[in-house]
Amino acid sequence: MNKFVKKINNLNYQKKIVLIGFMGSGKTTLGKKLASKLNISFVDLDEAIAEQEKMSISQLFETKGEDYFRKIEHQKLKEILSKNNKIVLSTGGGTPCFYENMQLINHYGISFYLKYTPAFLHSRLINAKAKRPLIQQLTSEELLGFIEQKLVERQPFYEQSNYILEEINLTPDFIIAQHLSNK
Ligand code: S3P
Repeated sequence: MNKFVKKINNLNYQKKIVLIGFMGSGKTTLGKKLASKLNISFVDLDEAIAEQEKMSISQLFETKGEDYFRKIEHQKLKEILSKNNKIVLSTGGGTPCFYENMQLINHYGISFYLKYTPAFLHSRLINAKAKRPLIQQLTSEELLGFIEQKLVERQPFYEQSNYILEEINLTPDFIIAQHLSNK
């Protein structure tokens, strides 16, 4: 048995694993990899909302507005978190910043903030605006300004996470070895 497999079999986390961070920070990609290594289910909050409402997040913003989306987002988050199962949950970029969502996340989960610079997020988002209603209409320059401003507003929520992961720490193996294993 190699060292990594041993670690996987010797985990001591009891709570759900919740990934948070700005749009474009790779929560879904990292979440899927992490869930697969831990052999537990992966849940994407936006996908769960879209499935329940039977429309895409863009359509939801367009037809019902952001306030409605935030209400549904809060309800769905509560529903998913309060189930008695182990999962990796990927949240939306705004999730921690509305209602008492961050307290809920930290009550039911071990939270990880995937922290990136505005420049990096800009490079990730410039070609991935279409599905994201908040940035769909922005030019490249406006997008950078939007990211910088929103990060100032959102960072205080994101930084309530149990762990902050930056660059070299942003791998499933690091998370498992450093934060979820009996050392
Ligand atoms: C949002 C982020 C999106 C989605 C919605 C609003 C935000 O999720 O929930 O468009 O407020 O930052 P991603 O972070 O997965 O793009």
